[in-house]
Amino acid sequence: MKFSLKDKPTIFVIFGGTGDLAFRKLIPAIYNLHLDKWMPKNFAVIGNGRSELNDAEYRKRLLKGVNEFSRRGKVKKAEWDEFAEHIYFQQANIKDDATYKDLGKRIETFKKEWEGDVNVIFYLAVAPRFFITISENIKKQGLGGDVEHDRLVIEKPFGHDLESAQELNKLLCASFDEKQIYRIDHYLGKEAVQNIMAFRFANAILEPVWNRNYIDHVQISVSEQLGVEGRGGYYDDAGALRDMVQNHIFQLLCLIAMEPPTSFSADEVRNRKVDVLNAVRRIKPEEVSHYTVRGQYGPGWIEGEKVPGYREEPDVNEESNTETFAALNLFVDNWRWQGVPFYMRTGKRMHQSASLISIQFKDTPHSIFPTYSAENWQQNRLVISIQPEMSIRLQIQAKRPGLDMTINPVDMIFDYKGTYTNDTPEAYETLLLDTIVGDQTLFMRGDQVEEAWDILMPVINAWEAKKSLNFPNYSSDSWGPEIAEALIARDGFHWFTLPVDKKS
Ligand code: BG6
Repeated sequence: MKFSLKDKPTIFVIFGGTGDLAFRKLIPAIYNLHLDKWMPKNFAVIGNGRSELNDAEYRKRLLKGVNEFSRRGKVKKAEWDEFAEHIYFQQANIKDDATYKDLGKRIETFKKEWEGDVNVIFYLAVAPRFFITISENIKKQGLGGDVEHDRLVIEKPFGHDLESAQELNKLLCASFDEKQIYRIDHYLGKEAVQNIMAFRFANAILEPVWNRNYIDHVQISVSEQLGVEGRGGYYDDAGALRDMVQNHIFQLLCLIAMEPPTSFSADEVRNRKVDVLNAVRRIKPEEVSHYTVRGQYGPGWIEGEKVPGYREEPDVNEESNTETFAALNLFVDNWRWQGVPFYMRTGKRMHQSASLISIQFKDTPHSIFPTYSAENWQQNRLVISIQPEMSIRLQIQAKRPGLDMTINPVDMIFDYKGTYTNDTPEAYETLLLDTIVGDQTLFMRGDQVEEAWDILMPVINAWEAKKSLNFPNYSSDSWGPEIAEALIARDGFHWFTLPVDKKS
C-alpha cells in the first residue's frame, strides 16, 4: 500500500507551524521523506502561526531546523530549494474564523490544480488546550468532512487524566470520525519498537515459550540522562507517569503481552493491544505503595557537568511534588500471563539513557552440573534494546573453553548496526508517512488511551493526595531511588542494564 503514494496528493496543515515540534521533527521528517522519494508528486505544507512571516522567511527559518536536526545533517542547496517550494506560511490566529476561511481557500486552490482525491492532514502541533478550539473551527468552516481523505493528527499529552481524556475523545469525535483521528505516540514509530511485532509474529519458535509456563518476569526500563530541558512548565504539571508511562511504556507493554492478531490491519492490532490494557490488574488505592515507587531527582553531576535538582529547574515549583521517576509492578490477568510480574520504570537524570525490555525465562527444571561449574549461572534472558543500541540479545548458558566444565552466560546478538547498512528513519518519518497512507496501526485509538489512563488513575490519585515526604530522593546520575531496587528485589530479581557502549 505504501508504494503507491504518487497518486495521493497531500496537504499538511501544521497548526503550531512555528513551534519547536515543526522545527525539530516534522519538517526534517517530511524533508527526508521527500529525499527518499516517499512524498507524493503533489504535496504542500502550510505551516501557520501568529508571527508575521512571508513564505520565504518561514522557509529560511525551517532550513535552520533541518540543518540542525535532520538525520542527514546539512542540506544540499539544490535539494532544499526544490523541497522548499512546497512550503507556505499562513499568518493565523487559531481562534478566528478568518483563519479557517483562508485555509479553506488555499486548500481549494491546490485541489483545483491537482488531479485526484487530495489528502488534507491537519496536524495539531500545539498545546492541548487548543485541540478542541481548532477541531471545532475546522468543522465549523466545513473543512475536514471527507472521512476518507481528511485527517487530524494529535500530539500527546492526550488528556491529563481519565476524565479529561474521555471528554477530549468525546469532543474530537463530534468533529471527526475515529477513522480520521491519529493520536501520536512517537515511540510506536521507532524502528526497534516496530520490530517487536515482527520478532514475535514472524518467528514460529517464540510463541510456544511466550507465556507463564516459561517466562519468569518481564522488565521494561526507559531511563534518560536528560532532565526536563526547559520544559519545566509542562513537566511540573505532568510528571513521569503522564509523560512516559501512560503512553510509551504502556505501548511497549502491549507489544510484549498482546495475543497474536489475526491480521496486520490497524483495528485488529489495536484490538489485541487494548485487550492487554483491559487485562492489567487494577491497583487498589491501599496497594499503591506496595506496587509503585516514585522519585524526584536532586542535583548531581552528569558526565562531568554539574546539573541542578528538579526543584531548581526553571518554571518548576520549588516545593514540587511531581515525580521524575516512576516504577510499577503490574500483572496481566489472562491465561497467558497469570502470575508473571511485569516491572516497569522510567526516570529523568538517570545514570544511562537506555530503553530496554528484558524477558527473563524460568530456570532449568533440574541442574546436572556441579556447583563449581555453574558459578555464573543465569537464567535465559531475552533483551530487546530499543535505544541507543538497537539490538535483540538472547542470553544463554555455554561451556567456557577449557578442560573443566565451566558454564557461563553468553549473548547471541542481532544488532542492527552489524546487520543492516541503510540509515534508520526517524520515528516521525514513519508516522507521517502512515498519515499520508491512511494507516492507523501505529496510532493510539481512543479506547486504548482511556484504558491506559484507567490503569494509572489510582496511582495518580494516591500520589497527588499525599505529598512525598522525601523528595528529592535520588541524585542525578543514579538509577533512581533505592526503594525502586526493593520493589523488584523482594521478588528475587534485579533491574537489568546493558553495559554502556561508549562508541554508540
Ligand atoms: C516524550 C517525553 O514523549 O518522550 C519526553 O515528553 C521524553 O519527556 C521523550 O524525553 C523521550 O523520547 P525519545 O524518543 O527522545 O527517547
